[in-house]
Amino acid sequence: MPEPLLRVEDLRTYFATEEGVVRAVDGISFEMYPGERRGVVGESGSGKSVTAMSIMRLIEPPAGNIVTGQIVFQGTNLLELPEDEMQRIRGGKIAMIFQDPMTALNPVYTIGDQLMETIMLHQKVGRAEAREIAIKALEDVQIPNAEQRLGDYPHQFSGGMRQRVMIAMGLSCNPDLLIADEPTTALDVTTQAQIMDLMLNLAEERGTAVMLITHDLGVVAGFCDTVQVMYAGGIVESGTADDIFHNPQHPYTWGLLASMTRLDDARKHRLHSIPGAPPSLIRLPEGCRFRPRCEFAVDVCRQILPVLSPVGDDGRLVACHRAEELDLKTLEVDAASSPQVDADPAEGVSA
Ligand SMILES: Nc1ncnc2c1ncn2[C@@H]1O[C@H](COP(=O)(O)OP(=O)(O)O)[C@@H](O)[C@H]1O
Ligand SMILES: [Mg+2]
Repeated sequence: MPEPLLRVEDLRTYFATEEGVVRAVDGISFEMYPGERRGVVGESGSGKSVTAMSIMRLIEPPAGNIVTGQIVFQGTNLLELPEDEMQRIRGGKIAMIFQDPMTALNPVYTIGDQLMETIMLHQKVGRAEAREIAIKALEDVQIPNAEQRLGDYPHQFSGGMRQRVMIAMGLSCNPDLLIADEPTTALDVTTQAQIMDLMLNLAEERGTAVMLITHDLGVVAGFCDTVQVMYAGGIVESGTADDIFHNPQHPYTWGLLASMTRLDDARKHRLHSIPGAPPSLIRLPEGCRFRPRCEFAVDVCRQILPVLSPVGDDGRLVACHRAEELDLKTLEVDAASSPQVDADPAEGVSA
């Protein structure tokens, strides 16, 4: 096994709010290897973006804090780096692409100025050379008339073209890890596929590892080698994309799969959706966090939080007390027989 590129160890990122402490990421551990394409999936609010922001050290105190854990990147714990060294990593060795490119682009500077600034900050080159690299970067993401477009402002680009600019900017310094947080969610479906193809082809050519955050399992199926499924601030299952899709072992993953439209499978049954809502991250239930929505829950699930542990010998990790005994892949999904949600008002359900 090669050395991991990234090793996250028991990361906990909390936010202090008026209602109480939001345990947005609550004890996650995982590794990524060079060149790996890892999908991070889970419903909205499960802690995907906070995980990414924690790795980039963009969590803002005093409200937001990484309260414990390690984020070891290429052998260095990023949480111990001084801010100036972290700035060199950010945008240099680790790049991030956000859902909305406008939040990352400054409306008052031209695309060229912003691209060149990033390039000059991270590579030891002057203006003229940075300009050449910027043109090449825009050409790589197939922006027509790249040289002329350097002088344009962000609002002069369409949404899809802006996301291409972000990819160009992200990849311009040849990062070892690219974190893409819902990079195509704001785009129309045809553009989504083009942008995803483009981003992943460029990453593959350069050997860049990609962490692709999405709520869309279909996207992960098409593009990722490995998957981690997040629920209420924790990882409930991880493994290879093939294994997870063909043989989910956590009831939540099974529910997510059942709720997606599969083009490869003319389903005989109706679309299943997971009943209920994720718990409040301020008042988490005792025991398993998925338990109030789980049709397979037994007594122990009420009492003890299951830890992410190996199941079988294929590298699969599952956080479920019943993972070994349940055979979810053989179960028929039928919305008509969806379980009653165990609504326990004491546990609070987020809006
Ligand atoms: N700055 C913040 N202050 C308070 N709560 C936050 C903040 N940022 C994120 N959260 C909360 O953390 C949880 C996880 O958020 P996030 O990681 O953005 O979810 P997602 O999986 O949709 O990306 C959510 O409940 C969200 O409301
Ligand atoms: Mg998010």
